[in-house]
Amino acid sequence: MLLPVIMAGGSGSRLWPLSRTLYPKQFLSLTNNTTMLQETVARLEGLSHQAPFFICNEEHRFIVAEQLRQRQLSHSGIVLEPVGRNTAPAIALAALHATANDDDPLLLVLAADHVILNQTAFVDAVNSAVPQAEAGKLVTFGIVPHAPETGYGYIRQGQAVSGVAYTVDAFVEKPDTETAQQYLDSGEYYWNSGMFLFKASRYLQELEAYRPDILTACQQAMMGARGDLDFIRLDEAAFSACPDDSVDYAVMEKTQDAVVVPMDVNWSDVGSWSALWEVNAKDTQGNATQGDVLMENTTNSYIYSQSKLVATVGVDNLVVVETKDAVLIAHKDKVQDVKGIVNQLKKAD
Ligand code: GDD
Ligand code: MG
Repeated sequence: MLLPVIMAGGSGSRLWPLSRTLYPKQFLSLTNNTTMLQETVARLEGLSHQAPFFICNEEHRFIVAEQLRQRQLSHSGIVLEPVGRNTAPAIALAALHATANDDDPLLLVLAADHVILNQTAFVDAVNSAVPQAEAGKLVTFGIVPHAPETGYGYIRQGQAVSGVAYTVDAFVEKPDTETAQQYLDSGEYYWNSGMFLFKASRYLQELEAYRPDILTACQQAMMGARGDLDFIRLDEAAFSACPDDSVDYAVMEKTQDAVVVPMDVNWSDVGSWSALWEVNAKDTQGNATQGDVLMENTTNSYIYSQSKLVATVGVDNLVVVETKDAVLIAHKDKVQDVKGIVNQLKKAD
């Protein structure tokens, strides 16, 4: 049985002003009335799995608990991080918890903030990867790239090791644009989906080999943890001392045992407003809208209204997002730069 490990501690800052520190994107309903976290759990249907394990920031504990309650979703534990230390420690906490009673389940590591339109293909890809993970491989799921995105990891496919899996010839996390373009042109690369499948013990072994400092800090944080009701509260001092690193840099770039299983599931990590526009339903003019919106002669735009009527006239390729305390107007090709606004706001704090 798989143990789904749902990482829900990111900040989603490129979806400002909707995604905020106190309410980041994984807790929002962006494409329908289900939140991204709830969708992540719903996507597991059809897999043989235990109740998922969640890792989130302490600040968000009530949001997570409430969103699970709303849909009557069960869990195997919710770890609360006093501070974010990125994904390598988050997965280590799950692996330590999973192996605490001499158990060694396969961890299906999932991000809580992805959109997957083809759920059946997702279940099939995960099931097809199980034998590889059982054999001790670290499986990453690969997406065929369609743009030179610099926000993703890139995986060069090696030889076939079974009907569905390939060795990983190279794993490069977040290359620069020029390199990303070369990878795209070569046709030899996948995007790393940020979803993984491996035995809990294999992850811990690889972490011990490449980042023993992270493993030690996580062991200490778990050793001093307190459990109450739904939550596992880490030893704050021990976890604060843990180095910050992603699973991609800490383990996946370095391990000799990675394999890639391609996943053709209509995936998006909804990393920006334009990505959200892409996955949303659109009218005949190419507009995706939410809330109270009126349009005249408007094309290829994403318009979101939370509290006021938003009207657009004679505009193309725009993103307009109105929330109670902020309005964003951006060119749809420049939405990655929203991060700059968030940085300016942080400095002003
Ligand atoms: N619990 C916890 N704690 N979760 C975290 C933390 C943390 O400190 N940091 C990030 N997460 C969660 C996020 O909420 C998200 O669901 C997931 O882990 C991945 O983190 P991101 O910060 O969104 O990573 P990324 O998008 O920059 O890169 C990763 O995903 C890409 C695909 O979306 C990498 O795996 C890339 O290689 C990959 O292409
Ligand atoms: Mg992401």
